[in-house]
Formats: sequence, C-alpha cells, structure tokens
Amino acid sequence: MKVLLIGSGGREHALAWKLAQSPELTKLYAAPGNPGIAEHATLVPFNTEDNDAVVSFCKDNAIDFVVVGPEAPLVAGVADRLRAEGFAVFGPSAAAAQLEGSKGFTKDICARYDIPTGAYQRFNNAPKAKAYIREQGAPIVVKADGLAAGKGVTVAMTVDEALAAVDDCFEGAFGAAGAEVVVEAYLDGEEASFFCLSDGKHALALATAQDHKRVGEGDTGPNTGGMGAYSPAPVMTPEMVERTMKEIIEPTMRGMAESGYPFSGVFFAGLMITKKGPELIEYNVRFGDPECQVLMMRLKSDLLPILYATATGTLDKVTAEWSDDPALTVVMASKGYPGSYDKNTPIKSIPGAGEGAKVFHAGTALKDGALVATGGRVLNVTASGKTVGEAQARAYALLDKVEWDNGFCRRDIGWQAIKRERA
Ligand SMILES: Nc1ncnc2c1ncn2[C@@H]1O[C@H](COP(=O)(O)OP(=O)(O)O)[C@@H](O)[C@H]1O
Ligand SMILES: [Mg+2]
Repeated sequence: MKVLLIGSGGREHALAWKLAQSPELTKLYAAPGNPGIAEHATLVPFNTEDNDAVVSFCKDNAIDFVVVGPEAPLVAGVADRLRAEGFAVFGPSAAAAQLEGSKGFTKDICARYDIPTGAYQRFNNAPKAKAYIREQGAPIVVKADGLAAGKGVTVAMTVDEALAAVDDCFEGAFGAAGAEVVVEAYLDGEEASFFCLSDGKHALALATAQDHKRVGEGDTGPNTGGMGAYSPAPVMTPEMVERTMKEIIEPTMRGMAESGYPFSGVFFAGLMITKKGPELIEYNVRFGDPECQVLMMRLKSDLLPILYATATGTLDKVTAEWSDDPALTVVMASKGYPGSYDKNTPIKSIPGAGEGAKVFHAGTALKDGALVATGGRVLNVTASGKTVGEAQARAYALLDKVEWDNGFCRRDIGWQAIKRERA
C-alpha cells in the first residue's frame, strides 16, 4: 500500500515510525514531514493547506491511503476533497471535525444525546455571557468556541476573572475563534485522555493517557501544547473505560451519524473523572501530541490495517493489541517556550533508539546539512518500562544523551502515576 502522511510534528513522526513497520506498506510519503520522519518516509514539500495540491500529489503518485495527522487540514476539508476523488482517508470530514472546531457544536451534541458534560450556555455577545456568569458564580469556565491553539480556555476561580475572559474573547484575543463563547460549569476531578477509533458505525477503543500541560515542574506556570505524557492513565480503570464507551463514545458516534455527520477517524476525548464518573471536557478529532507517541510505543498490532479499516468502514474486522508496559514521553523544548525563544539553535547529537525507546522529532529542521531546533517543542524522548517509574528513568537516561544546549525539559513527567505506584 502506498501511503501519504500529512503533518510535521512529533505525532506524525510516531505515526511514520509505526506505519514503516507494516508489512503491508510499500511506500511512505510524508508532507511536509521533518528530519525524524525522513528516517521512515520520502518527504514531499508541498503546501498541505492547499487541498488541490494534496489531491494532485495523490493522483500523480497513485496513493492508496492518506493519513491526516493534525486538525487544521481536517477542519479545512482535506478529507472531504480526497474522498470525493475516491481516495481512502484516515480523518473526519470538515462537518464531523466541528467536534474539535466548535466547542458549542460539541456541547449541543452532548445535550441532545444525554452525554455527561458540564452544564453550559453559548453566547455571541458579552453582556449576556456576563449576566450568565454573575448568575452562576465561580468557579466557572469560559471558552472561545473555535480553534485557539490551546489558549482559548479560562478556568476562572473568581467571577471577575471569568468576566475578563469574556472581554478577551469578544475583543478579539483569539480572532474569529472567539466570536462565540461557551460558558460552562467547572468540573472537579482527575483529567484523562481516551482514544477511540470510529468508522461511523463501529468503535474500537484504543488506549488512555495523561499529559502535563503546564511548563513548570509540579504542574505550575503557563499552559503549553504539552510537556510530556504517559499511557495508560491509572484513573482509567477497566470500569471507567467501559462507562466512557457506553455513556460518551457510543452516543456521540450515534448522534453524529443521526445529525448527518458520521464520524470517521479518532475520537480523542478529554475527560474529567468526577465523583459521578467520566464527563466530557472536549473532543479532539486527531491523535494527541505528545500522547500519540506513547500510544504508538505501546501498540503491538500493525497500525496500517487498523487505520485503513477506520477509513473504509470495516473497523469491526480488526483488533488492537497493547503492551501492558506503560510508556512515557518527555518533551524537550527551546529555552523560553511557551514564550519567545531562539530559532535555529544547533542540535549536536541525538541518541539512537533501543528496544522500547525512541527520540521523536517535532520542531526540527536541517540547515546546511546540520540539525537545528526550529519550534518551541522540539524533541519527544519516549521510553517504555515495567512501571511508569521505570519508563520515566529510561526516558530521562536517553534524554541526558541528547546534545542540545538550548533545550530544556521538565524533570517530573509522570509524577502522579509514580506517586500512586509507590503508595
Ligand atoms: N468544565 C471544566 N472544568 C474544569 N476544568 C476544565 C473544564 N473545561 C476545561 N477545563 C480545563 O481546561 C483545559 C483546556 O480545556 P479544553 O476544553 O480541553 O480546551 P483546549 O484543549 O481546546 O484548550 C482542560 O484540559 C482542563 O484542564
Ligand atoms: Mg484540551
């Protein structure tokens, strides 16, 4: 099978690494890819935001299957265009991608199909949103409706903070994403991520993960795209997984189909495990980054037929086998991230992969033949172990062999799970 992978992050490096192990793969292309992905794929540098360019590449190169990594091309309709041209695609239609592209859309699906989530209202102007916040009181959560690169949510501990967040949204802090605002009830509990494939009619549960969003140790400081993750999430017991499938995933899949947007791709459900059980915080419609890296490290089955079955409506014919060994990934970022940072700093050396260990590239590039850091989040040092503690020790041992002067990382990824293991 000739496959095109769209994307250029650590998530796509992990997908490429896993796809390249498939006996069914004859050729892997990646657009635009990165130097790590180039270990496994031929990089093709066309603009992946241009749907016409994607379609003509697939036609010219007789591509059998397209795997879309990030959300932006999905929201822009790349999967629709490719399907209309007869290509098999892993990733939802633009209409179904609204599950990630509009928080209000998702909340309405939850309301209509009785999916547990915080009580909410949608607003298109500040005075009404503010009146609702004053009536509800704090803590309360204010969200820009659209894609805001992880910056559009304020968990407000006071009414004043929530009111200020409403002003930010309507004054354009998040551009068009803030033209509508969702105000929702604060949920108290432990967060977890749940990944599940859907072909529109069948669902296949994958695995669970937990991530660390804050830049600082002890989960302090500003939010980031994620500084590390591990899988599985200890809070996601078999009972919680079963309840999540029954109470959240299955009604969503049914609701999306009934609403005219059958969902094909990956449900990445952000959950709060409250006293009542799993409640939905949000959906993403692609693999998490860096959660994908730990999922791929644990997946024993061939990834290619599983993704292809998702795209072709035959998900009931495949299974996914997982290693019981936990996996953990540590993000190395450029000093200064998530604020401003120097670009094109040299990465002198990256250690090779061993069994159950791999350094995935995210924001790297080649400049005059030398590897440099170009992004905020640059490398994902990933390892598995018999326990989260062992996976963590192996990941940091590997990370200490990376020679990159301008890099930093958190030293405590996985701390909650390790505390549990030692209790
Ligand atoms: N209703 C809620 N109650 C408590 N915390 C929340 C709630 N909604 C969101 N959060 C917190 O805010 C974070 C970001 O919200 P989320 O809806 O996942 O937006 P995004 O990932 O698009 O920025 C969540 O990971 C969670 O920590
Ligand atoms: Mg989120």
